[in-house]
Amino acid sequence: MTDKKTPHSLPLSEAISIAAQAISEVMSGRSLTEVLDQLEPHERPIVQSLSFDALRKWVRSHELIKQFVPKSPPPEVDHLLSVAIALFLNENADGKGYAAHTIVDQAVSACANYDKTMYAKGLVNAVLRKVSLIVQPPEGETRFPPDPIPMFVPPWWRANLKRNYSKAWQSILFAQAKRAPLILRVNQKQYSREQYQVLLNEVGIASSPIEEVAGVKLASALLLSNPVPVSELPGFYSGAVSVQDAGAQLAATLLNPTSGERILDACAAPGGKTAHILELADCEMVALELDGERLGKIGGNLDRLRLHSDRVQVIRGDASKASWWDGRLFDKILLDAPCSASGIVARHPDIPFLRREADIKSLQQKQRGILEQAWKMLKPDGLMLYVTCSVFPEEGEEQASWFAGEHSNAVRLGAPGQILPTDVSDGFYYALFKKNGP
Ligand SMILES: C[S@@+](CC[C@H](N)C(=O)[O-])C[C@H]1O[C@@H](n2cnc3c(N)ncnc32)[C@H](O)[C@@H]1O
Repeated sequence: MTDKKTPHSLPLSEAISIAAQAISEVMSGRSLTEVLDQLEPHERPIVQSLSFDALRKWVRSHELIKQFVPKSPPPEVDHLLSVAIALFLNENADGKGYAAHTIVDQAVSACANYDKTMYAKGLVNAVLRKVSLIVQPPEGETRFPPDPIPMFVPPWWRANLKRNYSKAWQSILFAQAKRAPLILRVNQKQYSREQYQVLLNEVGIASSPIEEVAGVKLASALLLSNPVPVSELPGFYSGAVSVQDAGAQLAATLLNPTSGERILDACAAPGGKTAHILELADCEMVALELDGERLGKIGGNLDRLRLHSDRVQVIRGDASKASWWDGRLFDKILLDAPCSASGIVARHPDIPFLRREADIKSLQQKQRGILEQAWKMLKPDGLMLYVTCSVFPEEGEEQASWFAGEHSNAVRLGAPGQILPTDVSDGFYYALFKKNGP
């Protein structure tokens, strides 16, 4: 693609400029999702793609910036360079993309509103020309396969991974720097996985089933060979299918709901796992969520998937307290706890830039508060599944062991425990408890 316009007719220079501003917002502590949510619909796809890639390629782009700019550039120039260099690195990776001169020209134009414009333009031009010679050889010369690039994480995070995964810590960071694949969950109330694959084939979308993750069989997971906008998925708006990582699909599978059971999803928004449970069985479901804004997303998802009924209650409340509870015990509880999200960095590459080491302790306290309260609301012989999308044992195995130690009536049943990120699954932790007696 050599056109200066992005696929959505936003000039590339404008897209680079907005993505660089988005990166600046992340560096000052705002979540990228929050920033992207404020964009115009035609801006979002390209800006999301540019800013995600800039964060994923941060380690390599900053090696290059350091090599060519002895004194650190001002932050706004640094962020723009990181967006533009990621464009080069992606071009090198898949052999497609923008021509080198287009990236340089458009990145230079994107400096138009900066302080000291001439200085910024000169610096961006000089650095990108040098980078282009390294990562994009002249036409006709062989491209070398790109080196894998590890994900940026702060020193305390890296130390945690090294301490806990002396062999696997690097492969975790390499897996998380890759673009996450598009994985679907077929709504079993409407189609089997095989039936939906036929529908995909009919519109020319290639897919393959993901049969299992961490030894747990999955019935609904499909990996798309190439990502497509959800609007192109057959029946998306009538609820045939949802986008959900394969590792996340273990939750409802392990909880194994059966019709008639009363189930609590204690930390439910945006409702991905609530919906999966309801796709598997006609349960009496309470979906609880603390955050009012996120709560609205649960209803939206259930509407699209045609899963609303008078047996489903969506409630705003704090799972570590009983104030919202009507006192009726639950057969099963899904506790998908608030956590560092260190396992889902491939889908949220801003997370390592936002988390602080002290967050882990305070998240641990929150998780314990919710575990304690949830246990009181579970029937004798009931099941509670504790889940986090974290790779830090402080939020996984340490919490499960602490909980089992505190409750002599908590029996641990088979569940995968820690799952590390792979090409088809984010990182998760799963522990299943049965309540033995009251
Ligand atoms: C990991 S996310 C849940 C994802 C959801 N289960 C899904 O699969 O779509 C954790 C959620 O817990 C919510 N949360 C945090 N603290 C809570 C609390 N004390 N009570 C209820 N929900 C809480 C957060 O706002 C967040 O939406």
